Parts: sequence; C-alpha cells; structure tokens
Amino acid sequence: MEKILQNLKKEALENIQKIESPEKLYALEVEFLGKKGRLTDILKGIKDLSTEEKKVVGALSNTIKKDLEEAFSNKKTELEKEKLAKELKTEFFDTTIPSPESQIGHIHPLAQLQKEIEDIFSSMGFSIMDGPEVESEHYNFNSLNIPDDHPARDMQDTFFIKNKSSKEEGRLLMRTQTSPVQVRTMQKYGAPLRIIVPGRTFRNEATDAKHEMTFSQVEGLLIDKNISIGTLKGIMQEALSAIMKKETVIRLRPGYFPFVEPGLELDFRCVFCNGKGCKTCKHEGWIEIAGAGMVHKNVLIAGNIDPKEYQGWAFGIGFERLAMMRYEIPDIRYFLSGDLRFIKQF
Ligand code: DAH
Repeated sequence: MEKILQNLKKEALENIQKIESPEKLYALEVEFLGKKGRLTDILKGIKDLSTEEKKVVGALSNTIKKDLEEAFSNKKTELEKEKLAKELKTEFFDTTIPSPESQIGHIHPLAQLQKEIEDIFSSMGFSIMDGPEVESEHYNFNSLNIPDDHPARDMQDTFFIKNKSSKEEGRLLMRTQTSPVQVRTMQKYGAPLRIIVPGRTFRNEATDAKHEMTFSQVEGLLIDKNISIGTLKGIMQEALSAIMKKETVIRLRPGYFPFVEPGLELDFRCVFCNGKGCKTCKHEGWIEIAGAGMVHKNVLIAGNIDPKEYQGWAFGIGFERLAMMRYEIPDIRYFLSGDLRFIKQF
C-alpha cells in the first residue's frame, strides 16, 4: 500500500508539472484529492491492514496529502502570475487617461466655523491653544475654584476613567469644559496672555435637540496689567460681528461661574431681527452666547500668576449653538451623526 501511495504521489506531481491552465489544474486536483478522488479511494483499503501497518500508512498518506496540496497551490500561483504577465504584455495601458471622477469630501461645518473663529481672534493678537480631552479632576475642577464638594460639579457630570487617579491631580475624566486649559497655559507661559482654546468637551447628558454628550467650546483668556471688562466687551463685539457677518452689540448681565468674579452672562443683539424680536432670539431681541467674567484670584494663583500684579477676563462660548444659529440647524445631534445628507449641505 505504501508503494501505491508513493506511485500516486509521483504521478500527481508529474501531471501538475504539465498543466497549463487553471481550469485543468482544478480538475486534476479534484481527481487526486477530491472527496471521491483517488487518494480517498486508496485510503478506503486501510481498514484491512494490521494496526502496525495502519499507523505507518496513515502517517504517510497525511504527508502525501499535504505535499500534494502544496504542489497544487504553488502551481496555481505560478499560473496566475503567468496570466498577469501575459496580459500586461498584450494590453495597452494608457496612463494619460484622467481617473474617474473622485469623490472629494469637505470640511465639517463645525471645523469651518472653528477655523473662522481662529482667524478672527488671531487677527486680534490671540494665540490658539490646545489641551487634553482626558483631563484630571484637578485641572477640570479644583484649579478652577470648584472644590470636591462644590455643587457646580453636579451640573457638569461627566465620564470618569476607571482606576486612574493620582494624589496630586485626582481622578481622570473627560473634560467638561475648555476652561482647564486656562490654568495649564498660565503655568506654562505665565503672564501676560491672550489665548483662545477651541476644543471638544464632554458631559453625561440625556441627549435631545439641544444637548449632546460630546460638544465643543471656545475658551478665551486675556491676562495683563490694568485689564477691565471694557476690553472684553470691545473684543467680543468685534468677534461676534465678524462671526455672524453682521454688526452687533454686546450686553452683559450678572451670572455665576466659580472661576470668575464678577461672573457674567454675555449676550449679543440678535442679528436676524436687529433686536426687534424673532424666532431665533425667542422674541427677546438678544441671544445669550457665552459665560464670562474677571478671572478669579484663586485661578490666577493656581496658574502661578500674582493677582496683585495681573488681572484678566475669560469667556466660554458653546460652539454648536453658534453654528446652529448661523446655518439654521434645528438639532445638535446632526453634527456627529455622520449623516452625509446633513454634511453635504455645507
Ligand atoms: N466653562 C463654562 C461652562 O462650560 C463657560 C465659561 C463661563 C467659561 C465663564 C469661562 C467663563 O471662561 O469665564 O459652562
């Protein structure tokens, strides 16, 4: 039986050598290795052998099967290569034909707006800063005058990173605001400062048309000597007029944020109705757009800046709201939906 197997192998290998087309190779493979093929046929005889012989013949037939499979597969690759080489030789390939029209993507509306805001503030001497989205409790809260048991933490519930904390900086979390970059920048560059920080922020929110778990803010921070709220008003008036592409004015109201004192709510006069009242401004004539205020002395101290020497103001704008107003987008959830019908409109 061993002899028969060896002969079968020899015959198969010789035949494989001669084959010239993939179809014939396949037929040959079926003939030798198929379910009803010749190797299977021979192996049917194993049951009549002694146990000793069964072992030897079994092992041999396995190796032969493997060898043949390999030979078939090698031949197949060889034939395919030959075919390709032939095609390349005979077919004319015109490399000067323009490619079929390609689908070009474009910039997401939020990214477009971010770029515009960066340009506007750069032209007024602001640098663009960046900070980590996975932030520490220290920078996101404590350094901004929001200690462990402060109620402001409830309003900014977020996602914590499991089992990651340090004694100095507390737990790790997804930042709830771009404000932590204020302190990071103060520590890194000192005063004076004039920066904006566009970036993504995160909160544990029940989502609806106005709330998303991932959204964006632009933080602004100006620190220098003899700084007052007057410069905040002037700069924001310039910036918002440029963003909304129409002259507007700013209104400030008292507001509370732990990291500013006094804290302010910053509104601009509705550019859609010139303050007369319309759907966009909910017939108020004014649109609330940012939180702002004079930087709290504890925040300056956390940033290693002497509050007796320097003052500053800060603001934080919700990015999506601006975009929604400008492009009349009714639902904040469209931005991250990945829905091309939405994206293609911009
Ligand atoms: N970080 C605040 C928020 O997410 C917004 C804010 C308010 C930023 C006042 C500021 C500020 O810089 O001065 O609600």
